[in-house]
Amino acid sequence: MSASLSTTPGAPFGTAIVVGASSGIGESMVRKLAAGGTRVAAIARRKSELDRIESSVQLPAGGAGKVIGYAHDVRDYDATPALFDRIVQDLGGCDLIVYNAGVMPRIEESEYDFTKDREMIEVNLLAAMCWLNLASAHMEAQRKGTICGISSVAGDRGRRGNPAYHTSKAGLTTYLEALRNRLSRYGVSVVTVKPGPVDTPMTKGLKLPLMIGVDQAADGALALMRSGAAEGYVPAVWGPIMWVIRNVPSVLFRRTNI
Ligand SMILES: NC(=O)c1ccc[n+]([C@@H]2O[C@H](COP(=O)([O-])OP(=O)(O)OC[C@H]3O[C@@H](n4cnc5c(N)ncnc54)[C@H](OP(=O)(O)O)[C@@H]3O)[C@@H](O)[C@H]2O)c1
Repeated sequence: MSASLSTTPGAPFGTAIVVGASSGIGESMVRKLAAGGTRVAAIARRKSELDRIESSVQLPAGGAGKVIGYAHDVRDYDATPALFDRIVQDLGGCDLIVYNAGVMPRIEESEYDFTKDREMIEVNLLAAMCWLNLASAHMEAQRKGTICGISSVAGDRGRRGNPAYHTSKAGLTTYLEALRNRLSRYGVSVVTVKPGPVDTPMTKGLKLPLMIGVDQAADGALALMRSGAAEGYVPAVWGPIMWVIRNVPSVLFRRTNI
């Protein structure tokens, strides 16, 4: 299957699941994968947005590539195993899974809100474990596949602005590293993507440095998945920036607002 596909972004994957696919980076990845000939399962809560993507996606000539939307709340953990099995059946396999679902509610300087924190941990981390455990077992058994998690530069340090968001992304980064250490011996790649700020509904109204567009973010993420890299920053300039930020001593870091 994959050998017949062209070399446009996403093309090496015959089948893919994108969790968190109804807007922003996830929507752009779905469109690019399908345009490259991949059969894509697009998962999110907003069915109307999934229908919009399904009906407007540009597919290559010759019948390759498609998008099938599945409405699902990733916090419905009990429903996930049956949905995963159904999708694998519908697509005819699972070569790639991208866990991209995420939330980042606004948190005030002195706000400590467990309801918001819980949603971030559940959507950004716990549900990632639920989906990626299923994908790991499937790919370990088939001895191939690619697992990708959309983490963030935010996971590299515990910054003061949104403690639970940073924690959720740090947890996701560590979980992905552990999966990689388990699965590489079975021929399964696990890729951690760490975008800097991206102009999406999540960041609407925020003034953030070095903001990029969704298509650049999706292209960067897909290039990392195709390359089989263990992890990478998008864009790459965040690599050296985060190296510096990671190495600022804690006693100094707490006096800054970065
Ligand atoms: N934007 C940035 O600057 C930036 C930077 C670094 C990393 N990231 C990460 O990139 C990923 C994509 O974010 P984005 O910026 O593209 O934001 P976005 O447009 O808000 O996309 C978030 C996606 O997650 C889905 N989602 C949220 N809660 C869900 C739930 N309970 N069940 C199922 N799906 C759910 C949303 O779908 P529904 O609402 O339809 O369910 C949507 O498809 C996130 O993990 C985010 O943390 C973003």
